[in-house]
Amino acid sequence: MISTSEVLTGTAVDLFYGATPAVKAADISLNRGEVSAITGQSGSGKSSLLYCLAGVLPVSRGEVRFEGRVLGELDDEELSALRRERFGFVFQYGELLPELTVEENTALPLRLAGQRKAPALAAAGEVLERLGLSDLRKRRPSQVSGGQSQRVAVARALVHKPAVVFADEPTGSLDSANAAAVLEEFLALARSQGTAVLLVTHDDQVAARADSRYIMCDGKIAAHIREVS
Ligand SMILES: Nc1ncnc2c1ncn2[C@@H]1O[C@H](COP(=O)(O)OP(=O)(O)O)[C@@H](O)[C@H]1O
Ligand SMILES: [Mg+2]
Repeated sequence: MISTSEVLTGTAVDLFYGATPAVKAADISLNRGEVSAITGQSGSGKSSLLYCLAGVLPVSRGEVRFEGRVLGELDDEELSALRRERFGFVFQYGELLPELTVEENTALPLRLAGQRKAPALAAAGEVLERLGLSDLRKRRPSQVSGGQSQRVAVARALVHKPAVVFADEPTGSLDSANAAAVLEEFLALARSQGTAVLLVTHDDQVAARADSRYIMCDGKIAAHIREVS
């Protein structure tokens, strides 16, 4: 019986780089409105598993299912449309485009999905406002701080109300005060939109905020801990 809130599942996922295994028989499932964290030492396979689940890297064995569809059965065009429209991404260094303003960067997922400029900028303005960033709308990434830029990256990942947000070390480049602030805003906004969040982190404080926690060791999920509420 599949839980109705289950949105993305990885079953017996293996990933090899050439002959080297990076992910071994991983089972994981993400629920709407919940935060799942993957923790583990550097090199344990966290990013590799995230990229498989996000359809960025094809699995070597096993399968990833999103809303019942197996990612490996989609063609390139279907897969990139799915990633663009239904998934959001946050990386360690935000990676905003330097030539675009903060609001244009935030609106990018909507523009890539074909939305016109005015409604896309209006939606971006709303998310920026919810994150307390309205004053920065017209600035360029070079004119904002590291913490602010990472908040903008969060706004951009959520602006198109994706079903799943994949975040690989989203606070890894920030000091602990900024990291905590960015994370809380991110999680509150994701929860209020019913987004499933997958957070890769080696920070225990960050992982402690999750509803579900997967601990990776040497490519395997060594433990899965679910918070009971
Ligand atoms: N592009 C790649 N080519 C070959 N090996 C890789 C590649 N990316 C990662 N690896 C290896 O796969 C293993 C898992 O890496 P990774 O998923 O990046 O771990 P983590 O995110 O937990 O630090 C490591 O041994 C790493 O060296
Ligand atoms: Mg990594």
